[in-house]
Amino acid sequence: MVSVAVVGATGVVGSKLIEMLERYEIKYDELVLFASKRSAGKEIEVGGETYTIRELTEEAAKEKYDYVVMSAGGSTSEKFAPLFEESGAIVIDNSSFWRMKEDIDLIVPEINKPKFKRNIIANPNCSTIQSVVALQPLQKKFGVERVHYATYQSVSGSGEGGIRDLEEGAKGAEPTTYPRPIHNNVLPHIDDFLDDGYTKEEKKMIDETKKILEDDSIEVTATCVRVPIISSHAVQMNVTLGREASVEEVKQSFEDHPHIVLMDNPSENEYPTPLDAADRPEIFVGRIRRDPTLPNTFHVWCVGDNLLKGAAQNTVQILKSIMDDK
Ligand code: A2P
Repeated sequence: MVSVAVVGATGVVGSKLIEMLERYEIKYDELVLFASKRSAGKEIEVGGETYTIRELTEEAAKEKYDYVVMSAGGSTSEKFAPLFEESGAIVIDNSSFWRMKEDIDLIVPEINKPKFKRNIIANPNCSTIQSVVALQPLQKKFGVERVHYATYQSVSGSGEGGIRDLEEGAKGAEPTTYPRPIHNNVLPHIDDFLDDGYTKEEKKMIDETKKILEDDSIEVTATCVRVPIISSHAVQMNVTLGREASVEEVKQSFEDHPHIVLMDNPSENEYPTPLDAADRPEIFVGRIRRDPTLPNTFHVWCVGDNLLKGAAQNTVQILKSIMDDK
């Protein structure tokens, strides 16, 4: 008897989590869907069956579940993930709250495996996931010394509120999720600003890259930007390798991976865009070229569906790999 709970089931990522449970053929006997009080009683169809959303309460989190996947924000995860864990569940959490804690695994299944110091596993930041998927073959083949990220992130990364600001902004409404309008605009501002002038989103990319690739010596810097599109994130990566490589060798290292699609034929206008990546499980790379201003350095343009590999798909892939190992 295997029980799975989804927390944040009514959200943008939550609804994709439910879709991914089906797409990755996760086997369960019991499925329980949680959200906040305002969604309690709402009905959702999963695999032809109707499920009623329950309010997440402390009492509910003390019920016994085998696996809990969460995407309901940092404060909900902070409070409820340990309660589920104490009741015996393995929790896979999509928020940023647990990611950098020393005893918490931060997992991209193509790259690393949980060590289970605790039974809370963290799903990395959306832009970080797609970036490390592309960096890992380079790290393996050449070593990675330094990476400079510049992101172009869609509004669905901010959940329903981000989508609302873009769509309602087009009709003239003031933003309620972002501090400035996102319609017809780009915002060099994702998550809160820190004292050093970086944003928390930039800090997440910097810290999480090193943790997932298990190399604190990689120099990482980032500028994260919100752009007015609904889905998929793009990341421009300027990568300094550990040794000399040709453009062809760099391209070849991507071609060897089934979860990476190389789309790099500029003369035919072939390069990945957010529309190409939408609803696709792979990470797309293109515009691979040498940066002549620094030794052993290349530009890599990287695009992925932020709700899939950047969030729900990676979470469910973690769940599947844990279930398969049991
Ligand atoms: P609800 O729909 O009831 O507000 P998004 O990021 O797309 O806005 O989604 C956030 C998800 O997290 C939603 O499913 C939301 O439920 C859920 N959520 C927010 N706060 C809580 C909470 N305190 N307990 C449980 N779920 C929550």
